[in-house]
Amino acid sequence: MLKPRPSRVNALQKNILRWYGKNSRQLPWRKTNDPYRVLVSEIMLQQTQVSRVEQKFHHFIKQYPTLRALARTSRADVVRAWQGMGYNNRAIRLRDAARIVMEERDGRLPSDTAQLEKLPGIGRYTAHAIACFAYGQKVPVVDVNIRRVLSRIFRKMNNVFDLKPADEIWELAARILPENVYMWNQALMDLGAAICTAQKPLCESCPASNLCSSRTLYKNRAPGNARIRRSKKSEPMYAGIPQRFWRGRIVEALRKVNGEDSISLTKVGRTIKPDFAAHELPWLKRLAQSLIRDGVVERVKASRTTKIMLAKG
Ligand code: ADE
Repeated sequence: MLKPRPSRVNALQKNILRWYGKNSRQLPWRKTNDPYRVLVSEIMLQQTQVSRVEQKFHHFIKQYPTLRALARTSRADVVRAWQGMGYNNRAIRLRDAARIVMEERDGRLPSDTAQLEKLPGIGRYTAHAIACFAYGQKVPVVDVNIRRVLSRIFRKMNNVFDLKPADEIWELAARILPENVYMWNQALMDLGAAICTAQKPLCESCPASNLCSSRTLYKNRAPGNARIRRSKKSEPMYAGIPQRFWRGRIVEALRKVNGEDSISLTKVGRTIKPDFAAHELPWLKRLAQSLIRDGVVERVKASRTTKIMLAKG
């Protein structure tokens, strides 16, 4: 277990918070502690980059200004509002979470991390982010960026892809929280985004460099870095394109369909793949089924050909 010296922790806090004071990003979700807005921003930020979320966040909040408004909407409409964000499952889970909170919790998003984690789409990271950023709780927040920053500062890493186990970092993060936890957690995120980046950390500009166990590793583009490649996650593909992009294309095709109309799988196929051929129908069916399972898409019965549409629910 990592137990850093208090003097080192104090110095790190001072340096990183001072750096953040001068370099913090002005992001819309940092101007509010409304739990609903924090929830929406954190769900969006799970898998979408900050610059994209910045563009989409205002639009989404304008359309659904409150948890109540979101709870009332249909799955199809929230998926339409999610356009451009990717990973449409998140929109479904967000809407479902809003409904549960309206129906079972009087419209109040819980502040307790264990209760938050029971809601759809909210995992350990997002629960802690809401507890800290909306409710001011003194809890750590560990996403992949913060995990990388803390791994490097407190342990000598062997190469840029090296990370300490998540549980170890959660425990460490909880031990080193300063008084201003909100600012600290946001500062670590900005440090990870601007300085302690995944592949080319800018150690010369880092406020933590004189206290960092890995600083020498990156100074000379250490030999280990050149040899080691991140093992590429093997993503399921079809015709050279990841299946999740095909899923996204199906949803995109359905977004454009007016009102509550449905379209046949063959037409979907031709829309998303100009050279779509009949023998590809089983593949398309499987993809559609995965979207149906996730609640994004509905199958329309009462027709001989398979037709689908965005889920009404
Ligand atoms: N990524 C996830 N949450 C974030 C936040 N609150 N600010 C910046 N980047 C983030």
